[in-house]
Amino acid sequence: MSHNSRRHFMKNLAASTLAGAFASSAQAQIILTPREMEGPYYPITVQKDKDADLTRVAGKTGVAQGTHIEIAGQVFDQNMTPVEGVTLDLWQANAFGKYHHPHDTSEAPVDEHFQAWAIIQSGKQGRFRFKTVFPGAYPLNARSQRTPHIHLKATKRGYDSLLTQLYFPDHPLNQQDGLFRRKSVQEQALMTVRQTEQENHYLYNLILHKIPL
Ligand SMILES: [Fe+2]
Repeated sequence: MSHNSRRHFMKNLAASTLAGAFASSAQAQIILTPREMEGPYYPITVQKDKDADLTRVAGKTGVAQGTHIEIAGQVFDQNMTPVEGVTLDLWQANAFGKYHHPHDTSEAPVDEHFQAWAIIQSGKQGRFRFKTVFPGAYPLNARSQRTPHIHLKATKRGYDSLLTQLYFPDHPLNQQDGLFRRKSVQEQALMTVRQTEQENHYLYNLILHKIPL
């Protein structure tokens, strides 16, 4: 390779690498649902009832304490094509901020009527919905609290698995939450459910990365 053609080659390589990096980071920032850590309370206790209504436990007559809410949405890929058959594995604290997990040693009360964990699937047009309680905040240490959030894992063959947490709009603890604050404003918006006109109903869309064939 002559000096000139080598210089040309290097210049093109640099330009294409830069364009590629820009495209992927822009895509990750603008489109895909941001990732978040799993946290210490992924359920480990066997549980039969993991349906889309977390406000009731099969075989029990009572209902979960706290504000009942409904979250509905669609799963899309990076081209905004709806994705059916995505497994959504959700878990959260009860209305008092207590997890159904042996490692949660807080004094907050357990709610035996709260299901706490659900595994559901996206259906036609990637749609899903679940009913739950507004999660309680819980102390992280002596100085800080986790703002209300729901943990979620989304998986489907052919797509990058997504582990994330979803948040609630304008909650006063959001701006004090270490994990939430670490995200950019744009990422925060993608991780926050939207209030609908109906009280206690929220919208939340998930955008997964389809692995190119
Ligand atoms: Fe949590």
